[in-house]
Amino acid sequence: PAPGWAVEADVVVVGSGVAGLTTALRCTAAGLRTVVVTKANLDDGSTRWAQGGIAAALGEGDTPEQHLDDTLVAGAGLCDEQAVRTLVTEGPDAVRRLIATGADFDRTADGTIALTREGGHHRRRIAHAGGDATGAEISRALVEAIRERGVRTVEHALVLDLLTDAEGRTAGVTLHVMGEGQHDGVGAVHAPAVVLATGGMGQVFSATTNPAVSTGDGVALALRAGAELSDLEFVQFHPTVLFLGADSQGQQPLVSEAVRGEGAHLVDADGVRFMLGQHELAELAPRDIVAKAIMRRMQEQGARHMYLDARHFGAEMWENRFPTILAACRAHGIDPVTEPIPVAPAAHYASGGVRTDLHGRTTVPGLYACGEVACTGVHGANRLASNSLLEGLVFAERIADDITASGPLREGARETIPAAGVVPAVDPARRTEIQRIMSTYAGVLRSRESLREASVGLEALSADNAVEALGDKAAVPGTESWETANLLAVSRALVAVALEREETRGCHWREDFPEREDETWRRHLIVRQTAGGL
Ligand code: SIN
Repeated sequence: PAPGWAVEADVVVVGSGVAGLTTALRCTAAGLRTVVVTKANLDDGSTRWAQGGIAAALGEGDTPEQHLDDTLVAGAGLCDEQAVRTLVTEGPDAVRRLIATGADFDRTADGTIALTREGGHHRRRIAHAGGDATGAEISRALVEAIRERGVRTVEHALVLDLLTDAEGRTAGVTLHVMGEGQHDGVGAVHAPAVVLATGGMGQVFSATTNPAVSTGDGVALALRAGAELSDLEFVQFHPTVLFLGADSQGQQPLVSEAVRGEGAHLVDADGVRFMLGQHELAELAPRDIVAKAIMRRMQEQGARHMYLDARHFGAEMWENRFPTILAACRAHGIDPVTEPIPVAPAAHYASGGVRTDLHGRTTVPGLYACGEVACTGVHGANRLASNSLLEGLVFAERIADDITASGPLREGARETIPAAGVVPAVDPARRTEIQRIMSTYAGVLRSRESLREASVGLEALSADNAVEALGDKAAVPGTESWETANLLAVSRALVAVALEREETRGCHWREDFPEREDETWRRHLIVRQTAGGL
């Protein structure tokens, strides 16, 4: 689609979670003309839903080195150690700067930051806010700072494609703005630096903890622009998501790892604590291990869920420490004070994404990626709990500093052209079919056979779309059809690499290759779209 209006800037940040807003605030503070564009409202991304907290070596006796060790173990041999070192050493000060920006974290009686535990952490190292509403508090503080500092924002704007100049350097983005106002319809922000901070792609699956906006838009844009993606096969399934029925679709309520961190037990229908003896950390083993143990027990017992038992917390602790989770459970007719909570794994986090270096630079000059959309190398094959908000903070600052250092940014207006691929439109009615295919054949349990089914199903949807695009049934361009195109594109890329990786590692679980194979597979799978395909 051709842009009908244009805005000039030094940097455009796409997305408004912790990664996007932190980048925008720092760029603004450095004097850059910064525009934030976001698909819904400023606070509608995944950050707002984060419960447990943000991990950093802030506690007495804790060190970045210990945080590094836990992160590397969870990452199952695929973390980039230098990236992790950057994360854990710069993390504590980044959290302190977030507090200085206005985020109000829970404190102990003596005023120090209260810390809890989560899976894979050998120490109490997770800072939290509002008990179990950490993301909501971070989002509130950052949105308020963005407004106070007068950062220009465009809400209800779906990013479509990257613009480049004749030399292939980033020159901005095209976007579609929904609703009233001077920026309605398809427009462009011209800027020599674009930061993708669009979050995750959980909506490729039928059931996910991710909000409706997580449709992989940034990953799909990067793919069309020819950027490299890495580690897409590593989709993390959160072990304890409130079970609302096998057919429940869309965003599902999370039951934070912090509930286990404070002593809740995972039990089966007979009340047996099945994590005992499976791992030295029992319920607090890394997330992939707990999710697999739950799935195995469900298979063995023909059950559709397990239980999280925290009745021993009592009403007061539930009300003070986990008010959000308590309310969500009660809204669905479950009272955790008097009964165990039914839980099952659901899609939660994309450990892979758009490949970047330590400054958030992608393989396309001027295009950066930050937060869940990015693959900085800190997560490897399985993200350590509560490292994601931290990654958003630390790498946002690095990106802002890199953009600032690379000036002068604008030497007169450049000729711009859309980067190689232009977003297609796919009939939104296909969305549930994409999700069904991905959940059935490329979800927590995978095999060559199931992934081939997924691949065939997705190819058929793409081929149908290509045929229909030429005929009467062409999908009408618009947010839903572009989002569906993005879901289809990222699903195809994900299935391609999941099929290729013939081993089990981290959160990639192949039933036909149940062992980890370091000799062959201790490497990253990188995917890029070219004229000839993936
Ligand atoms: C949780 O609160 O369990 C989520 C933490 C995370 O995904 O990092």
